[in-house]
Amino acid sequence: MIALGCDHGGYELKQEIIKYLEEKGIPYQDFGCDSTKSVDYPVYARKVGRAIQNGVCDKGILICGTGIGISIAANKMKGIRAALCTDCFSAEATRLHNDANILALGGRVVGPGLAVKIVDTFLHTEFSHEERHQRRIDLIENEE
Ligand code: RB5
Repeated sequence: MIALGCDHGGYELKQEIIKYLEEKGIPYQDFGCDSTKSVDYPVYARKVGRAIQNGVCDKGILICGTGIGISIAANKMKGIRAALCTDCFSAEATRLHNDANILALGGRVVGPGLAVKIVDTFLHTEFSHEERHQRRIDLIENEE
């Protein structure tokens, strides 16, 4: 199950992502927001982060205007590894190397065509499980 969240700056791109998920039959849960009316992105970062922390969803997609604020907010949460991507290479690498569980996108940065390809790459790339990558993730997760 994919958790979706956005602020007003990401709402339109989220609709495109929803179209893609529905076409592919990929299950998702939309945690808002529900329009282009101004809202606070940390609220939606937390909703999506919590859905992953409690196991309701296994991955998430967060979208704000730049993708920056919403990824910063999500990355404050334990066990959340949110990767802001503007290209498919990064989307693939962050799954292989970082086991990122949230993809962050900038609705005012990437167009819908590229964004959908980034999402597709992110959702269809598995973590490598290589020891060096797991060790580095453990170092992030177990910081003092
Ligand atoms: C909202 O105007 C904008 O600041 C937000 O969508 C995001 O880009 C923050 O990082």
